[in-house]
Amino acid sequence: MRFAIVKNAKELAERAFLEIKKVLDEKPDAVIGFATGSTPIPLYDKMADDHKRNGTSYKDVRAFNLDEYVGVDPGDKASFARFMQDRLFSRIDIDPANTDIPNGMAEDLSAECERYSAAVKEHPADIQILGIGANGHIAFNEPYTKPEEPTHIALLTARTRADNAAAFKDPSLVPQYALTMGIDEILTAKRILLLAMGENKAQAIYDMVMGRDDTSCPAAALRRHPDVTVVLDREAAGLLTFGEWERAAEEREARQAAERAEEELEANESDEAVDGETAEAAADEASEADEDAAEESAEDEDAADEDAAEEDVDSDGEESEDGEEADTSEAEDDEAENGEDAADEEADEQADEQADEQADEQADEQDDGADASEEK
Ligand code: F6R
Repeated sequence: MRFAIVKNAKELAERAFLEIKKVLDEKPDAVIGFATGSTPIPLYDKMADDHKRNGTSYKDVRAFNLDEYVGVDPGDKASFARFMQDRLFSRIDIDPANTDIPNGMAEDLSAECERYSAAVKEHPADIQILGIGANGHIAFNEPYTKPEEPTHIALLTARTRADNAAAFKDPSLVPQYALTMGIDEILTAKRILLLAMGENKAQAIYDMVMGRDDTSCPAAALRRHPDVTVVLDREAAGLLTFGEWERAAEEREARQAAERAEEELEANESDEAVDGETAEAAADEASEADEDAAEESAEDEDAADEDAAEEDVDSDGEESEDGEEADTSEAEDDEAENGEDAADEEADEQADEQADEQADEQADEQDDGADASEEK
């Protein structure tokens, strides 16, 4: 957004005309979007004057207007069609066939909106002139209008109706409805030239530049456009100070930088997440491999255990052998017992034999004594 602060209506007209002239010099068959209201009147006077003095031609220019009241005849002095006719078109060489404005008297207003939407789409403006409502409206897109809504029937707020009452004999005659180009349709213009004068626009201008990033101030949608020139008098710029603009710009840049950084971070994170996923997958694989290995080794161990178990089983089998062995050892024990018995028997036999031998010797000795005594 570029800003030009001017001292008065004359300067505003001159500064704004420079923008129009630049477009016409580049493109004599330019599409120009026009606004109505009190603000652009000095510009239209300047264009008419320039045309008269310098011959700047509009014969190949195509004109589209932003809006029109519903139920007001184009011939009525309060209509925007009549306004354009009186204030500009009748004073320059534009071809009336190349001028278009929503028809607020159409029998089928929805069909008229569709027609107008299609025409605007077919011929995007090379430059769109805008005023701004005290409530921040652009065209008749009142606060909280959805930007994507194309040309539509708008319900005018009490404030807008009061602000526009001067064109009507009685404020109660200000229509409740108007047909208006949509916000996003306005943004299709290649360049935008917004004009504002007076203290009663200061808040709207402040909101447009510094306000909440939502639809409460429809003009704030212009922040999304890459080529906007704002021409203001000091009163309309009253709530903006250069410092505030700088701060707002710095804040916006900081916010955008932060958003970019966040996006980059998210992008990196998602990359890392992919890497991480890969790493995780690798880790999973590794741990699966570990698990497999562990399982395998466990299996091996189990197998070993099983083998062992099998051995156990074998042992068990052998156990039966062992059992047999046990039986055998029991038998051995029996044998031992039997052995003990045999030893006892042997000892008994030996004792018996000794006793017998002793008895025999004693008997022999007695026999010998008897013999000796007999000899004696
Ligand atoms: C008129 C229009 C409106 C006016 C706005 C400011 O076509 O679209 O948005 O631009 O209401 O009107 P003025 O200039 O009368 O203060």
